[in-house]
Order: sequence, then structure tokens, then C-alpha cells
Amino acid sequence: MSELRFLGHSAFELKIGGKTILFDPWINGNPQSPLTSPDDIGAADIILVTHDHADHGFDDAVSIAKRTAATVVAIAELADRFRDEGAPKVISGNIGGTVGVGGIRITFVPAIHSCGVGVPCGFVVRHPDIALYHAGDTALFGDMKFLAEEQLDIALLPIGGTFTMDIRAAAKAVERIRPKTVVPIHYGTFQAIVADTDEFRRLVGNRSKIRILSPGASLSLT
Ligand code: NI
Ligand code: MN
Repeated sequence: MSELRFLGHSAFELKIGGKTILFDPWINGNPQSPLTSPDDIGAADIILVTHDHADHGFDDAVSIAKRTAATVVAIAELADRFRDEGAPKVISGNIGGTVGVGGIRITFVPAIHSCGVGVPCGFVVRHPDIALYHAGDTALFGDMKFLAEEQLDIALLPIGGTFTMDIRAAAKAVERIRPKTVVPIHYGTFQAIVADTDEFRRLVGNRSKIRILSPGASLSLT
């Protein structure tokens, strides 16, 4: 039984194999967040943060990690910042690397974007039940085609444009990645990243199933 709950923008809570994994848990200041405070996260085992931009939840991740003793997984330089801020368990890695946390395997994959600390990344999370890709913030890039070899069940892809892929680029990403299901992220949070999800659906056609989640909604994965 796996469940994916959308927490608005790029933030998710994934329950898989008895573990709770948070992605980019931006809660304070997130206009889409169904939660009012990072303290509303009851338990967490693993926290993945794709890069240090404020809308990806570094500060809230620190607070959740301290309270829950969740293991933070981040790119080497960002991992150092988590340690500096007092996160109790931190695993660092880098692009192309894979780390294991309690039966969950997490691979750092490239993201074409910017950030202040280290480099931005996406994550592929694997468990016997599921293979999931969180793209972080990224442009379309050709090597996304290698992700097709991962036979991904679900891909969380930014579609908002301006800072990431827009719907046209994201539809091309779907062609390359070929996930069974796509959940669009990083759109509609503010004016600069408004996106037409109906048009995105049309552009993707029958290549993958598109699931639009409203903030707070969950998707049952198995
Ligand atoms: Ni960013
Ligand atoms: Mn962002």
C-alpha cells in the first residue's frame, strides 16, 4: 500500500513500505499548502530536498528533521548546510549516485536549473512496490530519455514555465521518460507559473496517464 499526498507546489508526502518520505516540504509561505505549519507533519522517515530555493522547503525541512529525526538526503554541499543547521541525520550524495535508507533506494539525477548551494537535482526513489521520479525544478533535457530505462510508475514533473519546463516542454519530457503516470507540479502557485492543465493533457495524449492533484489530495499507488 503506497500513497502519495500532494502538499502544494513541489511538496509531497509519500508513504511506502511503512516509511514516510517528504519531498521539497515547503509549508511556511506556500500559498498552496494544505498544512499551516511544518509541525502539522506528524511523522517522517526521509526528507528529500532538490535544491536550496526558498519554494523547495529547506527551512521547513530543517525544522521537520529536528522534530522527527528523519534522515535528510541532499546533494553534498546542501547536505552540509543541513548539518550546520542541526539536522540530526543527513546523507549526502551527488548526481549519478544512489543511497539506501531503510530499504528505499534514492538516486540523484540531473536537473537543469540554478541554485545557491551545490547543484540542483531530481530524485528517483525505488522500492519493490514503486519507482517514482521527482524532477525538482528543471528544463527539458535530452538525457531524460535514460529515465525511460527505469520503467517509472510515476513522474512528478514541473509544468509552470518561467523557472522550469512549461506544458510544451513537459509533454516532450513525458515522451522521453515514458512513465505510467504523470503528476504535474510547480504551477499555479503564483502568477508567473500559471499553466493550462487541460492543454497539457491534450499535448501528452495517451502516452501517459495524467493525474491532476489538488493540494491535500492523495493518489493511491498500489
Ligand atoms: Ni528553483
Ligand atoms: Mn522552484
